[in-house]
Amino acid sequence: MAIFSGEYLRLGPLQTRIETHRRYSEHTDDVEAAVLAQLRLGRAESLLDVGCGTGSFLSRLRESGHTGQLSGLDSSPAATEVCLALPDVRAVTGDAIALPFPDGEFDAVTARHMLYHVSDVPRALQEAGRVLRTGGRFVAVVNHADVTPRIASVVREQAALHGLAPMASPNADVNSTGLPAQLSDVFSEVSTVVHDNHLVFDSPEPVIAFGQALMNFYGVGDDSPHREAVAAGIGDEVRRWFASNSIPWRDPKGYVVCTGSR
Ligand SMILES: C[S@@+](CC[C@H](N)C(=O)[O-])C[C@H]1O[C@@H](n2cnc3c(N)ncnc32)[C@H](O)[C@@H]1O
Repeated sequence: MAIFSGEYLRLGPLQTRIETHRRYSEHTDDVEAAVLAQLRLGRAESLLDVGCGTGSFLSRLRESGHTGQLSGLDSSPAATEVCLALPDVRAVTGDAIALPFPDGEFDAVTARHMLYHVSDVPRALQEAGRVLRTGGRFVAVVNHADVTPRIASVVREQAALHGLAPMASPNADVNSTGLPAQLSDVFSEVSTVVHDNHLVFDSPEPVIAFGQALMNFYGVGDDSPHREAVAAGIGDEVRRWFASNSIPWRDPKGYVVCTGSR
């Protein structure tokens, strides 16, 4: 069961998570570069980024001199708005399972860290294939099933203390184990690149900020009356751990970049 969450009605928590991975990964973690390496996108080719989020991928492409048409689609109006403000980028609010584009419209389609949230993943993959021209490339990124388990368990436990039933893990059904086979149902020449890494923290503050940016996924919605208490509990737990340990906080993480051709 994939989940939908109101998480993306505002982009702050997503930005915090992206920034945490950028600053605190043991080995450099540049998901966008990993996608571009597999995509082999020609400068004049057209691209649709499904679940475009903060727009940083589209912005990076434009700033690097990409001349082809760039499009973003996201179910969150906040994301669409950010992407529409980028130079020469078209963006629409919509659902990955019903892309509002004609058949064969794009040379390339990407779906980075977003398939977890889609209600019908096989249908989203079919849709990505439909809007690709023959010979076009699709690249998806999904996490391993159990990423950053230590901070996840702190958030889950603090939510549970307030009677909040944690949602299914976003990666429970859509993860690096199953994605290659799912792509093979729709695309040819499927290839997979695995990226394993750790988040490593020497101080509590960035761990706390990261944990608090995960709260929505563990049943603590923006409007929950327990939000402040859960946030404070995460802070207390993480500070307690650092007070009694003189080693860094290490949390394993990783993802796959899966590529298929139409
Ligand atoms: C984890 S964020 C990833 C954003 C961006 N791709 C990145 O890697 O930084 C997931 C994004 O997918 C969007 N999303 C969730 N469900 C969606 C759906 N059914 N169709 C399109 N976008 C969706 C969310 O609004 C959010 O912007």
